[in-house]
Amino acid sequence: TQMTTEQMTDRDLSEQIKKVTKESHVRAENTKLMVSFQRGQVTLSQYKLLLCSLYEIYQALEEAMDRNSNHPAVAPIYFPAELARLKSIEADLEYFYGQDWRLKIVVPAATERYCHRLRQIGKENPEFLLAHAYTRYLGDLSGGQVLGRIAQKSMGLKSGEGLNFFAFPGVSSPNLFKQLYRSRMNSVELTEEEKNGVLEEAVRAFEFNIQVFDDLQRMLSVSENRPQDPSPN
Ligand code: HEM
Repeated sequence: TQMTTEQMTDRDLSEQIKKVTKESHVRAENTKLMVSFQRGQVTLSQYKLLLCSLYEIYQALEEAMDRNSNHPAVAPIYFPAELARLKSIEADLEYFYGQDWRLKIVVPAATERYCHRLRQIGKENPEFLLAHAYTRYLGDLSGGQVLGRIAQKSMGLKSGEGLNFFAFPGVSSPNLFKQLYRSRMNSVELTEEEKNGVLEEAVRAFEFNIQVFDDLQRMLSVSENRPQDPSPN
């Protein structure tokens, strides 16, 4: 029987991964940090700290992806030209922190734990990278597109300045690209055990992100409750 890439079934990884992470997605959207983003209340200090964490996360993720780019579970979803975020985040960090931004990066514990996991699976379970790449990149191509426009307004930034993270110049249609990505995910051959491992890892990937947001929020509320401190900007 013939099947086009657009016809998905319940057994497809793309459907299953969406289903098992649905509840986690709701929780991620409802973290204080994401809620203030959506309400247009994100501050420059929040966004700068988030960028520091994203820098560490994408450095670990993209290093693991590059290292495993020929792995059968990674190769089909390896799109560095379209998706890689590290260079964009570096440009944003330089915009906000200046040339010596590397010396000013702040990395909370939850971000370290997430990165540790990414490096570990890069070495031990490369097929789990599928779950992490899905969680970050499809998120960036979905809600991330709206958040980028809101962030620009909230912080009064000029178009694109400090907002490279949200821009995917190599992706002309996020929706079409997401369809291609899902069909590539579904083409990966996994044993039942591996597939269950990937689904579990996707839930963990969301959990790591939620913990990063909560950690950042905590750091910010501590510094904002001490108005006598020098401004973090
Ligand atoms: C998909 C919104 C946060 C990961 C989506 C979609 C929307 C959305 C509208 C498209 C749903 C669809 O096409 O059916 C938001 C908003 C967020 C947010 C408003 C926060 C303010 C996050 C976070 C993550 C994430 C923090 C993970 C770190 C994903 C993923 C998808 C997605 C992986 C693709 C789902 C799929 O089609 O399989 N999001 N999102 N999102 N989001 Fe989010």
